[in-house]
Parts: sequence; structure tokens; C-alpha cells
Amino acid sequence: TIPITVPDAWSGYLAQAQEISLTPTVILLALVNVPLLAIVLNVLRQLIVPHSKTAPPVVFHWIPIIGSAIEYGNDPMKFFVNCQAKYGNVFTFILLGRKVTVCLGAKGNNFILGGKSTVFNAEDAYTHLTTPVFGPDVVYDVPNEIFMEQKKFVKFGLSTDNFRAYVGMIEEEVEEFLSSDPAFSTYQMKETTEWGSFEAVKVLAEITILTASRTLQGTEVRENLNKSFAQIYTDLDGGFTPINFMFPNLPLESYRKRDRAQKQMSEFFAGFIKKRRTGGSGQHDHDMIAALLNQKYRSGKALKDHEIANIMIALLMAGQHTSSATGAWALLQLAERDDVADALYQEQVKHFGINGEPGKFRPLTYEDLRDLPVLDSVIRETLRVHPPIHSIMRAVRDDVPVPPTLAAPKSEGTYIVPKGHVVLASPFFAQMDPTVWKNANKWEPARWNDPEGVAMMALKEYTDEGGEKIDFGFGAVSKGTDSPYQPFGAGRHRCIGEQFAYLQLGTILSTFIRKMEFKIPTGVPEHNYHTMIVMPKTPRDIQYRRRHV
Ligand code: HEM
Repeated sequence: TIPITVPDAWSGYLAQAQEISLTPTVILLALVNVPLLAIVLNVLRQLIVPHSKTAPPVVFHWIPIIGSAIEYGNDPMKFFVNCQAKYGNVFTFILLGRKVTVCLGAKGNNFILGGKSTVFNAEDAYTHLTTPVFGPDVVYDVPNEIFMEQKKFVKFGLSTDNFRAYVGMIEEEVEEFLSSDPAFSTYQMKETTEWGSFEAVKVLAEITILTASRTLQGTEVRENLNKSFAQIYTDLDGGFTPINFMFPNLPLESYRKRDRAQKQMSEFFAGFIKKRRTGGSGQHDHDMIAALLNQKYRSGKALKDHEIANIMIALLMAGQHTSSATGAWALLQLAERDDVADALYQEQVKHFGINGEPGKFRPLTYEDLRDLPVLDSVIRETLRVHPPIHSIMRAVRDDVPVPPTLAAPKSEGTYIVPKGHVVLASPFFAQMDPTVWKNANKWEPARWNDPEGVAMMALKEYTDEGGEKIDFGFGAVSKGTDSPYQPFGAGRHRCIGEQFAYLQLGTILSTFIRKMEFKIPTGVPEHNYHTMIVMPKTPRDIQYRRRHV
């Protein structure tokens, strides 16, 4: 192994990370299921059989097949930090029988996210999870060039014109929610300075789906949210978990519910798409379905109804947990940091206050949202410290040499990642790297206001103003694969929902901060990695108080 010292600052993270190891129950379960002999042979093989010189080092593990699944699944960051110290930036671990090669740091991200899709392939890595949820003929169920066309169609719907229409709609939805949801009953009693409390994740999940359906998803979805749609959504969402990723088809009720819900939701969308095609359902100028109805593939074929339906499901799933988790983390952090919450409030007063009257603000507009540095810095920093996606994977279709600048065997030559492995990039790891970021563990939005600081350099590289742009088939995007800040991924699979997410989160946070003060006596929670998206552990209640009585 290559001796690498753990940077001192990582130790802060390690100390704060939950202590996880093979618990007695897990060991007992494993022992019952895996014959002792298999464990002994597995250990001997790792200790005695010579390791191929070109193969990246393999993380030592006791139990065959299970490999390092428990350590990785409980706390991927801690696992990566420990592995980096033992094996360097490139290593392979066993994840329930799969060989996963991790490439850490900005260089590792560049290697994987900047790789060709014929070599590092997303469809092969994700389709078993996504196709049963999204449905056929979209996203990872089609060849990459077709998916890139579908991304282009969606981008067409995410236009400035539509965004202008969305800001007011989102503000209205949030105001309506705050004045009617029981979690805000203390806020609704207009003349009290008492503290109430709300569950951050629950509230943000509800607000996110309300605002996404009012804007992108369309009136039909918004009107059905409180009816059958909610149950179908819940069942479908139950099929989008790490268990589904590891085991695509198990004879369990949740899998059957997922499959039923996919059909129902696809039919629900297809039903009103048909109505719209025949002109029987009013005006829907600004939603995504309206945009998709007019799109044609390069081959000249129009999108079929079920393709539009399944793209809409994919967008719902891609945007819901990512945005709602980010919103929840931002509020949790603001509740702990009075100084930042106050700066955010003052920014609203400065830009939107009416004649200095307390509690009186003019409505937000899309143009305003683009010029609020404190709000921007709060969202950017939240996505640095709590990015919803901690691991990005690709299936390796061909043997690939690892650039020696990233990692190389001690005895010369290059590592080769063999065909059949999965490669894993973790923008999260690079975003928390103490050798790159000052006080990396600290949520400190002010770092984004220093024009000479690392954060702004990383952002410039990510957004590449005037820099290298590439068109992968969905319009020119900044390359961004080199940056140590990549909360929306990079390269051909880069997120197309970034501007929408900023607009949605910006409007939600502005509306909250105008109306309330927050505190969180229990402190900002640790990360829970047992869900697809990095969530706050419980308790995650925020206390609030009306600003203006
Ligand atoms: C891709 C993050 C919101 C739609 C991605 C990727 C990341 C990401 C990391 C790259 C995945 C990969 O390379 O495998 C986020 C975050 C969000 C967010 C942090 C919010 C804070 C949204 C929203 C939408 C959306 C609101 C839809 C309106 C997509 C799509 C892709 C994508 C279509 C492309 C997948 C591909 O090309 O393989 N997102 N996303 N995302 N996201 Fe988002």
C-alpha cells in the first residue's frame, strides 16, 4: 500500500462521524448465513494470493460478497477517508458482490465524469433502479444519444420565460402553506411571539412537491396532489431506495407496489396528455408537458405520450428529494446560525422592503433572485456541505488505464480499471477536502463572497464563464469536470435542473426568512446515509417565531 497521511483537518470529520463498525448483530447474521470456511478462504486469498500489479488495491474485508457494504452504507465519507489513508486515491471495494473502484478527489471526478459514455456508462449502472420507477423508453432505458435528446427537450421547457412565471407561483404556494398547515399553527395566530416548531424534512418535502407541481408538472398534477396521486407517488417512491439499487427485483410487497404505481402514474399523465393534444383542457403555457408536446427527435419522430409521461415521472423523482433535502438542510443551518439568518433577512429588507415598514415586502421576481449574494451563498454552501448525492456511479464497459497523475502502482506502470467493474466518483468528498477548503467541515456561506477565495475559483471552474463549453446533445454546457465543487455532477450527465432548483429554493427560503426567526436547540443533525439522498438524522425539528406581530 502507498503510505498516505490523513490531513489533520479530516480528523474533525472523523470525530464527528458516527462510530460504525461491524455490530454484533450484523456479524452474527453474517456468520449464520456465510459458512466460516468461506470467510477463512476469503481472508487467506486476500493475504496470500499475489495481487495483480495493474489492479487497484482492494479494500480488506472479512465477509465475501458483503465486502465493505456495511462500512460504505453507514458512512461513505468516513469509509473513503479511511481507505484514502490506507490505499491512496484509487481503490476497489466489494459491494454485495460488485467490484466498485473509487477514484477520489477532483482528479478522480474528472477521470470518471469526463470519461466517454462508451467506457464509463451510466445506463448500465442505473437502469435496474430507474427503469422500473420511470418506465420504459426514457432516460437510462434508451441509448445515451436518445437520452441526450430527451435532456434537450426538457431544457427547452426550462426557459427564462417559464422561470419568470414560476417565481410568483412558488411564493404563493409557500404563503398558502404557511397560513394553512397545522405545523404552522403558532405562526397563524397573528398576534403572538410564542415559538412553534416544525419537522424540517416533512415540511420541505410537502412544499417542494406543491411548488414543483404548480410550476413544472402542471395543473392536473397540482389539483390531484391531495387525492390518489399522493398514494401513487408514495408507492413509487418506495421503489427508489438503496435496497432497490442493490436488489432490483425481490418478491416483496414494496416492489409490487412500485410496479403498480409506475403503471398508474404513467397512465395518469398519459390520460391528460391525450386531453391536451385534443385541445380539451385549457391553457398550460408554462409547464413542462406543454414544452414536451412540441418536441421532435432528430429522426423526425415526435415524442409519444408514454415517453412524455415517463419523462415527467423522471423529473419528479430527480427533483423532489434533491431539492427538498437541500431546503431542509439550509433551514436547519440557518436555525443554528443567527448571524447568517439575520444577513439573509437584511438582504430581503434592502431589496424588497416597502418604505421601511416592518413585515412589508414587494413580491419576488426572477430578475431579483439572480442578484441576491447572501441567498446564493446560503444555497451554494448548503450544497457543498450537504450535497444530496454522495456517490456517482458508472459501469465500466472496457478496460481503462488510470492516469498516473491520479494514482499509480508503487512499482511503476499504471493501474487498469477492468471491464465489469463499477467506478465511483464522489464530488462530496472533493467538496469536503481539507487540503482544498479552509475549515472544510464548517458551514460558512461567507466563503462564497470572497472573490479571491477557493470557493469562487471552484465555482468559476464549475460554471466556466467564457471557458470551455461542450455540447453533449442537450445544448452547450460548461465542462466543469475539474472543479472541486460539483453538486450537480459534471460532463454529459450534468444536471439540467440546476437553475430551476436555485429558483425554487431561493423563493422558498426568501419567503420563510421574511416571515420567521428560527432556532434549533438540538443542533444541526448528522447525515443519514441510509436513504438514496443524504438526509438529516432525527430529531430535525426547527423552532420558529413570527417576526412581525
Ligand atoms: C443529474 C444533483 C435537482 C434533473 C444530476 C446529477 C446530480 C444532480 C449530482 C448527476 C448524476 C450523475 O452524473 O449520475 C441535483 C441536485 C438538485 C437537483 C443537488 C437540487 C438541489 C434537479 C431537478 C431536476 C433534475 C429539480 C428536474 C427538474 C436531473 C436530470 C439529470 C440530473 C434530468 C441528468 C441525469 C443524467 O444525465 O444521467 N442531478 N439535481 N435535477 N438531474 Fe439533478
